[in-house]
Amino acid sequence: MSILKGKHIILGITGGIAAYKSVYLLRLLVKAGAEVQVVITPSGREFITPVTLSSLSGRPVISEFFTANTGQWNSHVDLGLWADAMVIAPATASTIGKMAGGIADNMLVTTYLSAKEQVFVAPAMDLDMWAHPSTQRNVATLRADGVEIVEPGSGELASHLCGKGRMAEPEQIVEALEQWFLRHDTTLPLKGKRILITAGPTYENIDPVRFIGNHSSGKMGYALAAACREQGAEVVLVSGPVSLPAPAGVERVSVTSACEMLEASRRAFDTCHAAIFCAAVADYAPAVVAESKIKREGAEIMCIELKRNPDIAASLSREKGKRLTIGFALETDNGADNARRKLEAKNLDWVVLNRLGDPGAGFGVDTNSVTLFSRGGEELSFPVKSKQEVARDIVATVFSLR
Ligand code: CTP
Repeated sequence: MSILKGKHIILGITGGIAAYKSVYLLRLLVKAGAEVQVVITPSGREFITPVTLSSLSGRPVISEFFTANTGQWNSHVDLGLWADAMVIAPATASTIGKMAGGIADNMLVTTYLSAKEQVFVAPAMDLDMWAHPSTQRNVATLRADGVEIVEPGSGELASHLCGKGRMAEPEQIVEALEQWFLRHDTTLPLKGKRILITAGPTYENIDPVRFIGNHSSGKMGYALAAACREQGAEVVLVSGPVSLPAPAGVERVSVTSACEMLEASRRAFDTCHAAIFCAAVADYAPAVVAESKIKREGAEIMCIELKRNPDIAASLSREKGKRLTIGFALETDNGADNARRKLEAKNLDWVVLNRLGDPGAGFGVDTNSVTLFSRGGEELSFPVKSKQEVARDIVATVFSLR
C-alpha cells in the first residue's frame, strides 16, 4: 500500500507540451489512493482538457478565481489548508518565475502562495530555457523557499533538440512524493530504525574470468528492503551482483565476494537496529585465485581447492547485543529441523524457511512460500504469494507490526 493513500494532493498543471504526461501522473496518484484536486492555468487548458482531468480525479478542475456560470469563488486559501502536498507538473519557466517572484496573477500561483504543506515542482522546458541564468536563479530561489525540485531529465525535447529539460517521468514524480512522506511521516512503525539487509548471490573468483556463483536473483532481499522502507525504516542493502535497480530510498552497497559482503555488513551493522540476512552466500571460495586465466591443457579431471567462507549471519549475530537478527534457510530436505538448528547455531531471532521443492518457491521466480520459526518456538506458515507480499508478511511478523 502506498503512503500516498488518503493524502490530499493538489496537482498544478501549466502550459507546456509535457502536460499530456500529467494525465498519467494523475492516474498514478489516484491509483496510489490519493485524493487529487487539479488546478490548471489558462494556458495549461490549451494542452489538455479539464474533462479528462475531472473524470480521472473525480473532482471539478479549478482554473479561474471564479466559476464562470455560477460566479462561485474558488478559495485558494481553503485549498492550501486542505492539501497535504502540492505538485506542479509540468512547471514552465514562466510559472517558476512567477512562483519565485510571488506574482499571483492566476489561481495556480495564488494556491502555491497559500499552500501550507510541501510543494514539489517538476520543470519542463527547452534546454536553453532551462539553462538560462534567469531560470536557474528562480529554481534556486524556490529551493531556498523549501520547494522540492523534481529535476528534469535529458533527452529529445518538443523542439526536437536534445538536452536537459524533459519533465521527469510520472513514476519518478510519484516516487519523489512517496519518499518525501516516508522521510517525514513520524507515525510509521519503523521510523527511526536502521535495518541491514544482505541480498543476492556472492561470486568467488577462480581466475580473472571465472567465478563460483549461484542462481540467487536477489528478488527476495530487494523486496524485503522495499517492505522495510515502506514502514519508514532506513535500509542499508548490502547486495551481491544482481540485475535489479535499488529500491527507492534505500542505500545500496554493492559487493562481489562473501568476504566483501562481510566487511560491508559489519560496517553497517554497528549503526543498525536489526539485520535480515537474505543473501545466498557461497559457503566456499577457491583457496587461491589464479592471477592469469587457467588454460585448458592438462589432465582430464581438474580440482579446485576450496576454503571455507566466513558465515556473515553467524559472525554478526554473535555480537548482536539488543539487535534483532533474521536469517533464511534454503532447504531441500528436513526443512523444519534444519531451520530450527540454524536459529540456534547462528544465534538468530527468526529463521525464514524456503523449501526449494515447494511449488512457487525458490530462485528466479517471482513468488515464494515461507515458514517462519522464532527463537520463542513460534512456527508460522504462509501460502504462495508474490515476493513483495511475502516480504511484507515477514516484516510485519518479525517486527510485530500486526
Ligand atoms: N549465511 C551467511 N553467510 C554464509 C552462509 C549463510 O550469512 N557464509 C546466511 C544466509 O544469508 C542465510 C543463513 O545464513 O540467512 C542460512 O543460509 P543457508 O545457505 O541456508 O545455510 P548454510 O549456513 O550455508 O548451511 P547449509 O548450506 O549447510 O544449509
